[in-house]
Parts: sequence; structure tokens; C-alpha cells
Amino acid sequence: MAIQLWQTLKEAIHAYTGLSPVVFFTALALAFAVYQVVSGWFASPFDDVRRHQRARSAVEEEELPIPPPVQVGEITKEELKQYDGSDPSKPLLMSIKHQIYDVTQSRMFYGPGGPYALFAGKDASRALAKMSFEDKDLTSDISGLGPFELEALQDWEYKFMSKYAKVGTVKVTDSSQSEPASVSEPAETSDRDAHVTTPEETVVDKNAHVATPETAVVDKNEEASAESDVKKE
Ligand code: HEM
Repeated sequence: MAIQLWQTLKEAIHAYTGLSPVVFFTALALAFAVYQVVSGWFASPFDDVRRHQRARSAVEEEELPIPPPVQVGEITKEELKQYDGSDPSKPLLMSIKHQIYDVTQSRMFYGPGGPYALFAGKDASRALAKMSFEDKDLTSDISGLGPFELEALQDWEYKFMSKYAKVGTVKVTDSSQSEPASVSEPAETSDRDAHVTTPEETVVDKNAHVATPETAVVDKNEEASAESDVKKE
């Protein structure tokens, strides 16, 4: 049966094309290969649509709505740890000079797997001042830092003040070796921070990451705290 079919096919190929089956199938394979190569040079109009749909769904997945900042009040550094991103239902919080900022909007920086995830749920004052990623520097203790480091820290604080909502403070315990005064609380400025400049005086952009003081003076925090007066506890 199969042999009969093959015979009929061979005859048909010869009758219609004048070619032997071997030449016919070789030509067919070559034509297919050429088609594949050439069609690859031109994108199908549907490719763009598909790519766009994929990109859109990726963006939609990534751009989950960011919940409004919630005030946490005064909490201990142990309590702050629960906001390190390990629980996706909780906001991402980070502290500078005992002031807690909601950095949830920058999950790509501070969320799990992010380049700055180590700062989440902690007071990163010393690390930021020293531009250090070392564990020992993940502390609010800024004792013994030099003027440039303190200035860098000041710039970070301005950046965070302008970009993120302040949602609380970290309780200063006896074990805290240092109590850095935040710019938002000038009355508590200590001797160590006496050099701290006002936003107007600060030298602009020594550090590529750091916001200009002009942007920092915009008191986003006050707006944010006015908006979200919900107390967590
Ligand atoms: C090779 C060195 C580094 C490079 C190339 C780098 C690069 C960057 C870039 C491109 C951004 C994003 C800026 C933006 O879009 O706003 C960023 C943000 C940031 N960097 Fe770095 N960085 C470096 C080192 C460091 C170090 C040493 C620290 C601190 C220890 C640091 C702390 C941060 C922080 C906290 C942010 C996020 C600021 C925010 O929340 O807006 N970086 N960095």
C-alpha cells in the first residue's frame, strides 16, 4: 500500500515538474530554508503587538499600586526590622538619623534582591555617611565620623526628606551610642552636628546620588503626614 502510494507520488512529481523525486525534495527543502531566513529579516506586524502586550503586562505586574504611607509612630529598632521587605504586605521602611521613611515606592532599590535591600528595616545612617555596605555600619551610631562623612549623611537626609514620606522615629535606647539630630529637629542639634548646614548652605551635589538642597526643602513629609494621619498602633 505504502509502496504503491510512493510510486504514484514519484510519477506525479515527474509528470508535473519534470524533476526526479530526489531533486524535487532537495529543491523543496532549500526553498523552505530560504523562506525561513528571509522572513526572519522582516518583523511580522503581529510581533510588535505581541511584544507590546508582553511589555504592558510586565509593567502592570510590576506597577502594583503603592499603598499610602502609614505612620508608625515611635518604634524600636527591633520593630523596624519587620519592615525590611520580607513581608510583602508591610511597607518598606528605612531610617536615617532615627527618622523613619517609607521607601516602598523604591522597592526596586530596597526590596528583596534589590541593591540596597540591606538598608531596609534598619537605620542606615553610618553606612550612608561612609558609603559602606558593611554590616557593622548598619547602625544609627555616627560617632567618630569626619566632617565629609557627616556632610554626606546630611545630603542623604535631604534626599530622603524630599523624596519619601516620614512615617515615624526610632526610639533611642541606652544602647544607642549616638543620638544624631535630624535636620527636622534643629532644637536637638548636638555639638557633633554643629557643623551641619542648613539646606540653603549645603554644597550642591557632591555625591551623584544626592538630591540638591533645593529639592530637599520641599516638605513632602509634612504633606504626607497630613494626608495619612492613620496611626498604626
Ligand atoms: C559603584 C558604586 C555605585 C553606583 C554605580 C551606584 C549607582 C546608583 C544608581 C544608578 C542609583 C539610582 C539613582 C536614582 O535613580 O535615583 C543609586 C541609588 C542609591 N544608591 Fe547607589 N551606587 C553606588 C554605590 C552606592 C553606595 C556605596 C551606597 C551607600 C552605601 C549607595 C546608596 C544608594 C542609595 C541609598 C540609593 C537609593 C536612593 C533613593 O532611595 O532614591 N550607592 N545608586
